[in-house]
Amino acid sequence: MIRKDYLPFGKPNFSDEEVAAVTRVLRSGWLGMGSETVAFERELAEYVDAPHVVAVNSCTSALFLSLLVLGVGPGDEVICPSLTWCSTANVAMHLGAKPVFCDVDPDTLCVTPELVLQRVTSRTKAVMVVHMGGIVAEVEEIRSALKGRVAIVEDAAHALGAKFRNGRPVGSSGELTCFSFYANKNLSSGEGGAVALFDRGVADRLRSLRQNAMPIDAWQRFTHPKSILYSELSDLGYKMNYTDLQACIARVQLRRQPEFYVTRLEIAKRYCAGLRSLPIKSQLNILDPYHARHLFLIRLTDECLQRDEILLKLRARNIGASIHYAPLHLMPLYKGLSRAGLPNTEALARCIMTLPISGSMTAEDGEYVVEHLAEIMQQKDDDGVTV
Ligand SMILES: Cc1ncc(COP(=O)(O)O)c(C=O)c1O
Repeated sequence: MIRKDYLPFGKPNFSDEEVAAVTRVLRSGWLGMGSETVAFERELAEYVDAPHVVAVNSCTSALFLSLLVLGVGPGDEVICPSLTWCSTANVAMHLGAKPVFCDVDPDTLCVTPELVLQRVTSRTKAVMVVHMGGIVAEVEEIRSALKGRVAIVEDAAHALGAKFRNGRPVGSSGELTCFSFYANKNLSSGEGGAVALFDRGVADRLRSLRQNAMPIDAWQRFTHPKSILYSELSDLGYKMNYTDLQACIARVQLRRQPEFYVTRLEIAKRYCAGLRSLPIKSQLNILDPYHARHLFLIRLTDECLQRDEILLKLRARNIGASIHYAPLHLMPLYKGLSRAGLPNTEALARCIMTLPISGSMTAEDGEYVVEHLAEIMQQKDDDGVTV
């Protein structure tokens, strides 16, 4: 039986608590960036064990401002995976720098120290390390390999709740670590992002840049009796601030992370058990306690299997299977850049797929996906070829 409703790959879970928080902020008369945002930044800083968190309007903005404060600009190279969301590379382009695409490990789907080193030149200014799907990339090892000569920005859009091998949360490495609170993320406020970092001076600069580089923000201008004295502008900033309307949702979502974590773990366990008999490999360490399991990434291991066909059949059964990601180096936007030396990425591009996983899924949803995936993969098409 085909279910009636569509099962998205990352459906957020909102309760009466989030609804009450929104109502409270709407009734407060202040929707912009203010006390809720400040409270959320403090709570998130505690959660990710970083001294400073600066909330912005998206992870894309967080990545952009991170490269900006590192001084990335024209003539610089920024190493990043090709197997990522376009924001990771686009922000380098926006600053006039050149993204240099790096291959990924076929089991983790992340860059490794060896692969990064192959791309370093005298022009390399930064490396963007993506914690793909919520697995934790080897940040410490990459930092050692780079010997402190190149800055690292962690793209942790998928990795809120993930932990390094030493048990400390992603966000606590001391590198600029960027999170996303987009609609389908582990913590969702519709849109939103944040940078976790250790340097107070850099945090202050980010706070300024996110709100047009005004010396004091709108909330302070609104509430400060002498605000007129502080309105001089001396830097060129951006309009990339978070809002209290989003922060009040994010605060509830942050408190509910353990609940969502358990739900995603149960779904992942069900998938792993169900996939055992199929020619499918899940991402390495998907059941590992350190994995955030934002995405449930799988790889077809039988070359005869047509990934796109399987994906479309899942969609026809109302299962929001998806692809994370189509490699950036094959996109028209990036065709002028080097395409050499990305064999793992190109092989993965043909056989990876993402199954739905989220804090709002039920055990029955998981069961439905497993049953239908198995059925589709065991079907024969008219020529007798397995699809
Ligand atoms: C790996 C990665 N980086 C960056 C982003 C950008 O996040 P946002 O939509 O919050 O700008 C995404 C969004 O999905 C992502 O998956």
